[in-house]
Amino acid sequence: MRILVVGGAGYIGSHTAKELRRAGHQPVVFDNFSAGHRQAVAGCEVFVGNLADKEAIRRCLEQWRPEAVVHFAASIFVGELVSGPAKYYRDNAVGSLNLIETMVEEEVKGIVFSSTCAV
Ligand SMILES: NC(=O)c1ccc[n+]([C@@H]2O[C@H](COP(=O)([O-])OP(=O)(O)OC[C@H]3O[C@@H](n4cnc5c(N)ncnc54)[C@H](O)[C@@H]3O)[C@@H](O)[C@H]2O)c1
Repeated sequence: MRILVVGGAGYIGSHTAKELRRAGHQPVVFDNFSAGHRQAVAGCEVFVGNLADKEAIRRCLEQWRPEAVVHFAASIFVGELVSGPAKYYRDNAVGSLNLIETMVEEEVKGIVFSSTCAV
């Protein structure tokens, strides 16, 4: 399967992309590299984009037509969340909503969401 790994340049996402490849799938990474690493996605197809930008999500889905999405993109630091909750609301809640709404519009039906260790 072609699977979009959102946040795929991060810690969990990059290991997931590697395991998907090992299992014979085609991972495509969507990441804005705010916390991810280029070397973590060596050998993967990469779309640089931000979940704040629905048009970028749409372009990516139209370009790659993934059968499913695995979603790991988030801001993850609890201390930062407590001192600036609005940023975390935008990054995590609104970003996820943008992804899911665009998937519905583009008829991409499967999603696995890891949620957050801060919930
Ligand atoms: N690390 C853990 O032990 C752990 C455990 C359970 C759940 N989780 C959850 O899994 C998810 C990923 O965690 P991680 O440790 O891999 O974090 P990470 O910071 O290493 O990876 C997050 C990735 O998402 C990207 N990203 C962030 N905001 C983005 C945006 N708006 N648009 C596009 N890309 C964006 C970052 O550049 C980064 O590559 C988080 O929701 C985290 O809470 C992590």
